[in-house]
Amino acid sequence: MMLLQDRYELARSVAREAGLRALEMFRRRDELVIESKGLQDMVSAADQDTEAFIRQQVLARFAADGFLGEEGGLDRGDADFLWVIDPIDGTACFVNGMHAWCLSIGVLCQGRPVIGVVYDPNSDEMFHAAQGQGAFANAKRLQVHSAARVSEGVLGVGFSHRVPVDAFVPFLGRVLADGGMFIRNGSGALMLAYVAAGRLIGYYEPHINAWDCLAAIVLLQEAGGVVNDFLADGGLQHGNPIIAAGPALYPQLLALIAPESCSPPLQSNKLPALF
Ligand code: IPD
Ligand code: CA
Ligand code: CA
Repeated sequence: MMLLQDRYELARSVAREAGLRALEMFRRRDELVIESKGLQDMVSAADQDTEAFIRQQVLARFAADGFLGEEGGLDRGDADFLWVIDPIDGTACFVNGMHAWCLSIGVLCQGRPVIGVVYDPNSDEMFHAAQGQGAFANAKRLQVHSAARVSEGVLGVGFSHRVPVDAFVPFLGRVLADGGMFIRNGSGALMLAYVAAGRLIGYYEPHINAWDCLAAIVLLQEAGGVVNDFLADGGLQHGNPIIAAGPALYPQLLALIAPESCSPPLQSNKLPALF
């Protein structure tokens, strides 16, 4: 149990410390060097510095743990505990002066997501969860929305040019035709945390990477949500679709997504206990 608890505490403290450093850089973003990694895919010195800081803090305490970061890649992937980090999720917002960005820190234990921290420094809001302990935004307990139809709330969506446009746009049409509405704010991790918090009724993105969503998967599991089996078929290495919602909405969300574009659902609150 202590193994999990010590890492849970470190994940929260390092997220806050790294987040406040990133916030300082956000306020001085005009001085940052920004490079393109691909179409609509940017990276700044803030992403690299923040990830290096988190990596150093984690390994100073748990030297044998594995680490996968968006910017620095994978070290010790076969370790029992693997930290999966996006130092800044929502880089397009960050470099353009918008507030929808966050830090995402997930921890896997023997391949299962067990700790999730999504920290939004602009609002000083920390979404956090550990297996079996509930999900919280700061001290407030989280519960997913009870909506059963997309017409009953706002759906989060994500899209990147890693996916053909035609594989996604028809889904939006089906949501609108059913009386739904969608938001894409630029940070998949933050929007998934909002699903755990019941602010959004669900989230769909046809391809997302592990560092974007692993922390939020734990939040969703602990807030009573349903998430597809993101880690199936190499999701950790290559990414996968992500589909998340409250249990009442999940079947309709699946029906609105082309069946061939999603992996089978996992009733996330039925995972066996590890500790
Ligand atoms: C991106 C954001 C975006 C999502 C993309 C991600 P980045 O991450 O989460 O919302 O749609 O799939 O790549 O580049 O801002 O770290
Ligand atoms: Ca990201
Ligand atoms: Ca990122």
